[in-house]
Amino acid sequence: MSFTLDKVVPWGRSFEEYVAMFSLTPDDLKVDILGCGDGPSSFNSVLTQRSGKVISADPLFRYSKAQITQRITDTYAEVMEQTRQNQHEFVWDSISSVEQLGQIRMSAMQDFLDDYEQGLVDGRYRDASLPFLPFRDGQFGLALCSHFLFLYSDQLGLEFHLEAVREMCRVAREVRIFPLLKLGAEPSGLVDSVRKDIEAEGYRVWITRVGYEFQRGGNTMMKINRG
Ligand SMILES: C[S@@+](CC[C@H](N)C(=O)[O-])C[C@H]1O[C@@H](n2cnc3c(N)ncnc32)[C@H](O)[C@@H]1O
Repeated sequence: MSFTLDKVVPWGRSFEEYVAMFSLTPDDLKVDILGCGDGPSSFNSVLTQRSGKVISADPLFRYSKAQITQRITDTYAEVMEQTRQNQHEFVWDSISSVEQLGQIRMSAMQDFLDDYEQGLVDGRYRDASLPFLPFRDGQFGLALCSHFLFLYSDQLGLEFHLEAVREMCRVAREVRIFPLLKLGAEPSGLVDSVRKDIEAEGYRVWITRVGYEFQRGGNTMMKINRG
C-alpha cells in the first residue's frame, strides 16, 4: 500500500496516554525505546525533554513541518465530527467530552510540531515503514506500537502483521502493541493468529490489561519477548 499524506489523518496521543496504554514504568522509560507509527504524538518530544532515549519511525516523517501542520489543519474538523457521531465507541471517563479530546490531541500534536525539526536533525524522527525497520538487531530495549498494528487489521492483513511483529522483535528485546481492537472498536480477529504463530517461533506472548481505556473495550496490550 503506497503511503501519501492525503491518506493520513493526523491524530496524536499524549505522552501520558502512552505511559498508561503501555503500562510504562520509570525503569521502562530508561531503556532505548523505538516508537513505531508514533506519527504526531507527543511521546518522543516529552520523553526527550525528560532525558529519555527514543526514536520514532513513521512514513509521515518524510513530510515537512509545514506539510504536516497543513494536514492537521485540513482534517481536524472532520475528525472531531466523526468522533461526535461515534461517541458510543468511546469511554468518556478520564476524557469527558469531544471538545476536551480535541484540546488534548491538539496540544499533543503542537508539542510534536514544536519538536519535529530538531528531532529530524537529532535522528529521533525517522522516515520508516513497517514491516521494514532501518535499525540493528537488538538496538532497542523496547519497541512500542500504538494505534497502527491491529487497528488496520482489515486493510493490512495477517501476513503484514506477522512480518511487522517479527521485525519489531528483531530490533528490540521487548515489543508492546496497543490496542488489540480494529477500527470501529471491534476486537481484531488477527490477535489469536499472531499470538499462535509468534509463540511457535519461540517468543513468549502475553495479553495484559492496562489502566487505559478510551476506545470502548480497548484496555489490553500484547507484550512479546524472547524470554
Ligand atoms: C492512528 S496513527 C497513531 C499515531 C500514534 N501512534 C498515536 O497513538 O497517537 C497511525 C500512524 O501510523 C503511521 N503509519 C502508516 N503506515 C505505517 C507503516 N507502514 N509503518 C509505520 N507506521 C505507519 C501513520 O503515518 C500514523 O502516524
